[in-house]
Amino acid sequence: MAIDKIGVVGAGTMGNGITQAFAVAGREVVMMDVGEAQVRRGVDTISASLDRLIKKDKMSAEQKAAAMGCIKTANTLEALADCDLVIEAATENVDLKLRIFADLDRIVKPEAILASNTSSISITRLAAGTQRPGQVIGMHFFNPVPVMALVELINGLQTSAATYTEVEVLAKSIGKTPIKVKNSPGFVVNRMLCPMINEAVFALGEGLATAAEIDDAMKLGCNHPIGPLALCDLIGLDVELAVMQVLYEGTKDPKYRPAPLLVEMLEAGYLGRKSGKGFYDYVK
Ligand SMILES: NC(=O)c1ccc[n+]([C@@H]2O[C@H](COP(=O)([O-])OP(=O)(O)OC[C@H]3O[C@@H](n4cnc5c(N)ncnc54)[C@H](O)[C@@H]3O)[C@@H](O)[C@H]2O)c1
Repeated sequence: MAIDKIGVVGAGTMGNGITQAFAVAGREVVMMDVGEAQVRRGVDTISASLDRLIKKDKMSAEQKAAAMGCIKTANTLEALADCDLVIEAATENVDLKLRIFADLDRIVKPEAILASNTSSISITRLAAGTQRPGQVIGMHFFNPVPVMALVELINGLQTSAATYTEVEVLAKSIGKTPIKVKNSPGFVVNRMLCPMINEAVFALGEGLATAAEIDDAMKLGCNHPIGPLALCDLIGLDVELAVMQVLYEGTKDPKYRPAPLLVEMLEAGYLGRKSGKGFYDYVK
C-alpha cells in the first residue's frame, strides 16, 4: 500500500514539527487537534518556522506556499478516516493515547497504519487496544523534528514486517534516518540520554561541581554541543523525571532511580526553560 495521505493527531511541539517535515517534502498532511486555537497555533508555528528558512535563504516563498498548501487542518478524528498513515503526537498520557488508538481503529480505513510518537508508552500496549496490532508501530521523532535526522521506528510484539518496511521507506523519503528498535522502556536514545542527565543531577546534588562546571566538563571533555543540565532545562525537568520513572518502573533496576535533587526541584516548580527556572535562570 502506498502512503499518500498522512494524518497527524496533535498540533503541539511534535505534531506541528512532524506536519512541517512531511509538508516540506510535498506530502499531503491533515493536522488534527482538539480545538481551533490549538490547530491555529500549530499552523502559525509552521509558518514562522518556514519564514525563518526563507530569511536564511534555505527556502523560497514559492516553496513555502507549496508546503503550506499540503497542510489541511481538522478538529475531529473523523477527518483522518481516509489517511494511509496516522501519526499520533498527542499529550503523553497513557489513558488518552489508548482512547485515541481505539477511536482511530474504529474510524480510519482498515488497511491504514497507525503510529505513535510516544516517548515512553509501550507500542505493544497501544496496539493491543486495536483490531490491527500488526499495523501499529512507533515513530519516535526528535525535537525539533524538521532539523533532527533520526527517527526511531519501534516494533511492537505484533508489528508486521510489511508495516515496518512501509514506514521505513516513508521516513527515508522525507530525509530521515530511521533505526529499528525493539519495544522497550525509553527505546534507545532516551534509555541512554536520560540516565546521563540524571547522573549529572546526582553529581550536582552531591556537590561535585557547580552546574556550569558540570556542563563545561561534558562540553569540553566529551565534545557535547550542550551540557546535560542545560539540556535538561531545555527538555523540561518534568519530562526528564517522567522518562526516568518509566525506565525505573519498567525495569525495576535501581540504576535508573531519579536523582533526589531532580524530584525536589520539580516540587519547587522548577521545570526548566518553560517555567523560567531550572538549573539556570531564564527570566530576564
Ligand atoms: N517534546 C519533545 O521533545 C518530544 C520528543 C519526542 C516525542 N515526544 C512525544 O510527542 C508527543 C507530543 O508531545 P509534545 O511535546 O508535542 O506535546 P505538546 O503538549 O506540545 O502537544 C500535545 C498536543 O496534543 C493535543 N491533544 C491533547 N489531547 C488530544 C486529543 N484527544 N486529540 C488530539 N490532540 C490532542 C494538545 O492539545 C496539544 O496541542 C508525546 O507523546 C511526547 O512524549 C515529545
